[in-house]
Amino acid sequence: MHGPQPAPTPAAAPAAVCRAAIRGLGVYVPPRVLTNDDLSRMVDTSDAWIVERTGIRTRHIASPDQAASDLGVAAARAALVDAGLEAGELDLIICATTTPDMLFPATACLIQDRLGARRAGAFDLLAACSSFVYGVIAAAQAIEAGVARHVMVVGAEVLSKLVDWTDRSLCVLVGDGAGAAVLGPAEGGGGVRAAVVGADGGAGDMLKLPGGGSRMPYSDEVLRQGLHYPRMDGRTLFRLAVRVVPDAIAEVVRRAEWSLDQVRWIVPHQANQRILEAVARQMGLPVERFVSTIEHYGNTSSASVPISLWEARGDGRIADGDRLVLAAFGGGFTWAACALTWGR
Ligand code: UT7
Repeated sequence: MHGPQPAPTPAAAPAAVCRAAIRGLGVYVPPRVLTNDDLSRMVDTSDAWIVERTGIRTRHIASPDQAASDLGVAAARAALVDAGLEAGELDLIICATTTPDMLFPATACLIQDRLGARRAGAFDLLAACSSFVYGVIAAAQAIEAGVARHVMVVGAEVLSKLVDWTDRSLCVLVGDGAGAAVLGPAEGGGGVRAAVVGADGGAGDMLKLPGGGSRMPYSDEVLRQGLHYPRMDGRTLFRLAVRVVPDAIAEVVRRAEWSLDQVRWIVPHQANQRILEAVARQMGLPVERFVSTIEHYGNTSSASVPISLWEARGDGRIADGDRLVLAAFGGGFTWAACALTWGR
């Protein structure tokens, strides 16, 4: 039969992808500052060695009664104010931490309770120093998938509570602090564009805390052997970082369909100023394009990227429309990179 045919049903319009943007930042560091000279009175080290080998001059150290959640709550509250949100508007809290208050419950749940974020789900994410960048990527995915509208990612660390203060190879590096980011749906041109996550569990021995888990629960023997302290093969980790981080940055820039020249700032994990310099050299980039805050904070593990973001936004380096790459590596061995355009 011929005659007028019904108009074809229009193909369903593809659902608009809701891009996620960082809508607020907050930082808290404990007031006590420990200098390299202070350390040289505690272990066999010197200001000259620490500055030359790491770039660190000072770090903040938590008071005896401060745990990760205390620092995290303070940073999260500041991030909520910055975002103009109430705690009750959060749908999810991700706490990126290697130094949780306790094995369980999750530090994210302790933060949820103290914020009064009654609607929010909460979990901890452990990818050592990469945890915050992993967390931002997970938060963006949750928002883009419609699982959550507002997600708080808190990097909160009190490494000073876990290190052996007689081990000069590690204790001079660490600092305590917390940084938080609230992510929500992007309203303008800002937002997360691309992500890379990676791990090589075979290299896990380079940085680990063997005691106190289910493999080696605390015992007199564990304490006697000092297995309750973190141990690190710094040289190997250094080399691995310099190999992996440039590739992760290049790959996330490619996935974002940007060129490296278009990236205004790289906001890296702050493990060692010499690592930043080596990564910059390897990528043919001026080291000035890498935000560096290690001088004043030391290595704050998963707090180092949000603290650096907050610093660089605060002093006007990062402005709306800037293209950024967050990049981190750490124990596991893990790494992550996230390309985002700054702005809500
Ligand atoms: O957050 C992610 C995980 N961490 C990292 O990514 C850290 C990566 N690694 C590093 O940053 C560096 O390897 C360190 C800062 C840890 C060490 O610097 P290095 O230039 O690799 O030094 P080294 O381990 O090769 O040690 C050189 C010397 C050694 O003495 P000898 O054997 O040459 O006599 C160490 O015993 O420096 C000695 N040393 C120190 N001397 C003064 C180690 N720590 C200290 C210290 N003060 N604090």
